[in-house]
Amino acid sequence: MINTNTIDKLLPKKERYGLLYDQIVAVTSNESDLVANLSNICAILKHEMDWFWVGFYIIKNNELVLAPFQGPLACTRIAKGRGVCGTAWEENKTMVVPNVQLFENHIACSSLTKSEIVIPIKNNKNECIAVLDVDSDELNSFNQEDQLGLEHIVNYISQLF
Ligand code: SME
Repeated sequence: MINTNTIDKLLPKKERYGLLYDQIVAVTSNESDLVANLSNICAILKHEMDWFWVGFYIIKNNELVLAPFQGPLACTRIAKGRGVCGTAWEENKTMVVPNVQLFENHIACSSLTKSEIVIPIKNNKNECIAVLDVDSDELNSFNQEDQLGLEHIVNYISQLF
């Protein structure tokens, strides 16, 4: 039986990320299907953290292609270097964007997105193979704590590919 208890939103962020990590491992560790696992990970992140949009883009034929997500309709394909996702891929590093309107190159899939964080998912040769994109409808939603918490989770997710 999967534990579907929700994480207390009043807990400090660091603790919430620890509980999110445990929940994600519990839900995915006995399942080998990538789409099923990425789908449940989006559901956990979106519902526990109340973000506006959470999803994956996977690199296929040198493009980021939309993969499991939760939230409104999104762009299906993103070129390398385009938008926050394409930049995280090109630079192979996490992008924290406090105000998307100030990010030259931002792809406006939704005018409601105000801030975002994109974390590259890497293979064991340190090459980017996908990204996790998290969007908020508030400015300045993500800081270093979110970066560390999500990078830890993404490090686990990379082993599911
Ligand atoms: N925000 C992304 C585009 C994807 S969506 O907003 C879901 C970006 O600029 O890379």
